[in-house]
Amino acid sequence: MILNGAARKNGNTAKLIKAFTEGAISAGNEVKEFYLQEMNINGCLGCEHCSAAKNLKVACIQKDDMAQINEDFGSADVVVFASPVYFWTISGTLKTVTDRLYAQLRSLGYSGFQRKSVLLMTAGGSDYSQAVRWYETFERNLHWNNLGEVLGAGRTEDAFRIGNAIK
Ligand SMILES: Cc1cc2nc3c(=O)[nH]c(=O)nc-3n(C[C@H](O)[C@H](O)[C@H](O)COP(=O)(O)O)c2cc1C
Repeated sequence: MILNGAARKNGNTAKLIKAFTEGAISAGNEVKEFYLQEMNINGCLGCEHCSAAKNLKVACIQKDDMAQINEDFGSADVVVFASPVYFWTISGTLKTVTDRLYAQLRSLGYSGFQRKSVLLMTAGGSDYSQAVRWYETFERNLHWNNLGEVLGAGRTEDAFRIGNAIK
């Protein structure tokens, strides 16, 4: 699954997503992209209702498009975080969705959600450091497996290669 946090549908980040997707599909994988900009997903309320729930269907009290993402997150082998650099970090839309994954992780347990993941990012400049640190901290603490980081719209071959290596 690809969480596309870019605001522009056909911008620079989309080029990396396209290359990754082509690589993954040609290796026989199924890819589903969520274009977050067009989804109705509210920020986490921090109410901790999910912490007491053991059933995902009732874990989050908010009823919005996050339900679509939760369904795929439950079975996805690989989660791709794709985003432009916005003020030296990931976009707000991608961060909002990541926060909302909390409900699933809290209600069903972190140990059942050890995913492989990929970071795809583009920027006007060259400072990705804060975004990469966010991603690697997330990975490390959740014991996820980092398949690779592609930083820069010109690096489509790397995006293809990482997608194509997923079997
Ligand atoms: C709100 C906003 C904030 C941005 N902040 C940064 C930044 O901090 N550093 C940077 O290098 N580029 C920054 N940029 C430029 C984008 O990261 C860059 O143009 C990116 O490739 C856009 O991706 P897209 O074409 O997929 O929309 C910013 C752009 C916007 C719209």
